[in-house]
This record gives sequence, C-alpha cells and structure tokens, in this order.
Amino acid sequence: MENVQNKKILFSGIKPTGTLTLGSYLGAIKNWKQFIDDYRSIFCIVDMHSITVRMDPAELRRNALQQLAYYIACGLDPEKCILFIQSHVPAHAELSWTLGCYTMFGELSRMTQFKDKSAKNADNINAGLFTYPVLMAADILLYKTDLVPVGEDQKQHVEICRDIATRFNGVYGDTFTIPESFVPKVGARIMSLSEPDKKMSKTDDSNAGCILLTDSNDDIMRKFKRAVTDSDMEVRFDPQNKKGVSNLMSIYSVATGKDFDTISNEFSGKGYGSFKLAVGESVCDMLSPIREKANELLKNKDYLESVYSLGAEKAEAIARRTMDKVYRKVGFIAKPRRNG
Ligand code: TRP
Repeated sequence: MENVQNKKILFSGIKPTGTLTLGSYLGAIKNWKQFIDDYRSIFCIVDMHSITVRMDPAELRRNALQQLAYYIACGLDPEKCILFIQSHVPAHAELSWTLGCYTMFGELSRMTQFKDKSAKNADNINAGLFTYPVLMAADILLYKTDLVPVGEDQKQHVEICRDIATRFNGVYGDTFTIPESFVPKVGARIMSLSEPDKKMSKTDDSNAGCILLTDSNDDIMRKFKRAVTDSDMEVRFDPQNKKGVSNLMSIYSVATGKDFDTISNEFSGKGYGSFKLAVGESVCDMLSPIREKANELLKNKDYLESVYSLGAEKAEAIARRTMDKVYRKVGFIAKPRRNG
C-alpha cells in the first residue's frame, strides 16, 4: 500500500448472517470498490454483530468465510485494502464497552433498527440488540475513519456514532475523528422482487424476492421472471406508484450503466416480459464471473486464511493505538509492555 499516510480512511462491514445478496453487492460492495484506490480502505466481516440474533454456529462460520471469498471475488483486492474478521481484533469489544459508558439509554431506545428488530424478535430482545450501535461506533472510531459507506437504513447508526465521538471528544479533548456517512444514490435500497415495498434481505425475505450471490443463472432468471410489477405496461421510473418496475429499473441501470430514460425508451411498447428477461440476463452477466471466482477461492482455504490473518494483524496494529489513547484519556493505568 503506497502513500497510506496521506489517504483518508474508509471503513465498512456486512454481517455474515446469511449469504450475500444482490442488495449487498449493489448497495455496498460495488460502491466500496470504487473507493479503494483513493482511500485507505478497511472492510470487515462483522461476525460479532451477527449474534444479536440466534445463529447456527457452523452456518455462521461458513457464512463468514464465504463472505470473505465474495469480498475478494467482487474486486476488493487484499493487496489494496484491509480485509478482516471483527472477532479477531479484541479492541472492537474493548472500545464498545468503553463507548457504552458514553452512550445514553434514551438515545439507543430511539434507534429505528432496535425498534424494528425487537418487534420481530419479541422472544429475544437481548442487550446486544440494544447496544448494537455502540459496537458499530467502536468499529468505525477505532480506525480514525473519515468515510463510512452504508445503506440508507444504517445512516442513523453513523449519526449516533458521530454523537458519541463528539461527546467523548468534548470530555477528553480531541480523540476520535468524526466520520461522515456515504449513502450511494442508486443501489442504496434494492427492494425485494416479490414484495417491492420491502428491502431485499436475506433474513426477512422468502427466497423468491431475494437474489443471492450464490444463485445459479437459472435461479436468477426464475426469480426475475416472477418479479412483481404492476397492472399498467409502462417501463417508467416512479418509485412512489410503480415500486416493482422502478426497482427493476434501478437494478438494470446499475448492471448495465444505462440511465432511466434510455431504459424507458428501450422497452417502450414491449411489455414487462421482455423487460424482466433483460434485467435477469444483465444480472446473470454481472454475477456469474463473481460466483465462479468466489467458488475458486473457497477451494483454497489456506489462501483465505492468509488473507484474514494478515488483515487482522494490520487492523490490530491501528486499533491498538486507538485503544491505548482511549484508555489513557479515561484514566486507566497503562499495562506495561514486554517488548517495547
Ligand atoms: N450495522 C451494519 C449493517 O447492518 C453493519 C456494520 C457493522 C457496519 N459495523 C459497521 C457498517 C461499521 C459500517 C461500518 O449493515
């Protein structure tokens, strides 16, 4: 990594609660990739955030490794960025505890995601679900992050991170960099193909509305053919009144680079059948090389291990410096180091 000193820092992450989706690719990873030459970029597999809901241990492990393979296959070159697994760097838990003591019960209670998730998991409203945004703030602040690319639904969590950091800096003097969120315009909210008023999601959705990055071309085509549209016949971008069609247009637009006017013209008078086929095909073209690359990488566990262990080492080095500073500021006695 050349010139890392002058570069601004970018951090983001995805929970390995399931297989990555078209939504995570278009809304997150594809955008991240555009930044990796200009920012010192750090991408995390946030496994600690995953256990706020019950996860099968074997599945969590499988998902995390698969996610790493897909990160790389999507173009996050480990030579150009840091790729690591959150639980490998203990500073995340340490800073999370510390920041929790500078976060108010009231402000966490107002988080929309907490309210949504507690409604959905009424039998398991655990403390982790409540303090989730504090751990996320720790993720971001450990690395002096300038920019946090996230989906629309995570903006509120970056806001609370800024509030916590500002509060801490107010008490102890300049400690944390105040991060900005970056929400991409197109792709930030890819909706379900079967219920286009809901976000495409691996956890909430029946499989029909959700394209997984592991789906075969046949699966992809089948899901697009069944995508929900509406009863008029016009391919026109109108996210208020034509949610399904507008969502398909967004997907087609990012997959092909065509703008909405071009797309409307291309399908004017042709009906939804050929439109859906074209969108499905564009997605197959976009995803199949990624899927093949990821499958290759997953055969090489030693390589994947070398990537995440080197990533953890690099992340650890940065995070440790922040923790030392934070512990000093709050008044903990420095632990003597054996080797310098
Ligand atoms: N909460 C994020 C999500 O659900 C994932 C996440 C955890 C994250 N820590 C982060 C995103 C830090 C950006 C930065 O999508």
